[in-house]
Amino acid sequence: MANLYDGKMAAIYDAMYQTFVDYDEEYAFYNNLIQENKASGILEIGSGTGNLAQRFHQNNQNYQGLDYSDDMITIARQKNKDCSFTKGDMRDFKLNKLFDAILITGRSTSYLITNDDMNRTFSSVRKNLNDNGVIIFDFIDANRFIPFTKENPVIMHEAKYESINYIRESHWDTNNSLENFMLEWTAKYYTFVNGKKEIIENDFSTVRVFTLNEIELFLYLNNFEILKIIDRKTYAYDTYVIVAKKIS
Ligand SMILES: C[S@@+](CC[C@H](N)C(=O)[O-])C[C@H]1O[C@@H](n2cnc3c(N)ncnc32)[C@H](O)[C@@H]1O
Repeated sequence: MANLYDGKMAAIYDAMYQTFVDYDEEYAFYNNLIQENKASGILEIGSGTGNLAQRFHQNNQNYQGLDYSDDMITIARQKNKDCSFTKGDMRDFKLNKLFDAILITGRSTSYLITNDDMNRTFSSVRKNLNDNGVIIFDFIDANRFIPFTKENPVIMHEAKYESINYIRESHWDTNNSLENFMLEWTAKYYTFVNGKKEIIENDFSTVRVFTLNEIELFLYLNNFEILKIIDRKTYAYDTYVIVAKKIS
């Protein structure tokens, strides 16, 4: 991944995302699944700038966040002084307690670009879950997203941060030379200074999208039993959300 979540970009990312992700709805959605599974100790992987953390904390839930970007964690800590955030890589982490539910939110699975990344993540998650603990995660559905990128070559978002207007123009290309279903994402961030559009940042990342069958097989091979598959549309993506139980 490029510098998407570093430095000032992390703050702009935060402002931008809050204009198109309804975090109250996002919290209600995940909390509902947590309650259905009677989970109390919760770990969110890809906790980002702490928007879900804030809601879990306000509701006095036993929540912890994990992210591998220092800058995202800094913002999350500023917004949630009493919450615990750990810097770590989902592909290789061991915390000092076990959890009832581990969430991977906001399509953070898209950054697991090799099969080895996927298997290492599921193996780490297993090590950090109680017996019968659940993993809850979303992923971008390749079958619907790849045609979407062909029909929508440029996607625009606007946000205001510290009284400055920002525009993000993003573009997706399929990359058939890589293994798996991978997309190259490029985004240009602009500001308006004295009515003039000025480019401030170029971002680039390789993002993986999955078919549902692939995910089912990864879970089977890593000793998880699928409890629920939810077809969910988020702001720009058709995703699936999976709830799966660790089996011994
Ligand atoms: C698209 S953002 C989602 C953030 C947040 N869940 C939200 O919905 O606003 C992806 C997040 O995953 C984190 N991330 C990506 N790969 C990771 C890894 N291997 N381990 C831990 N965090 C990772 C990034 O730093 C970033 O904060």
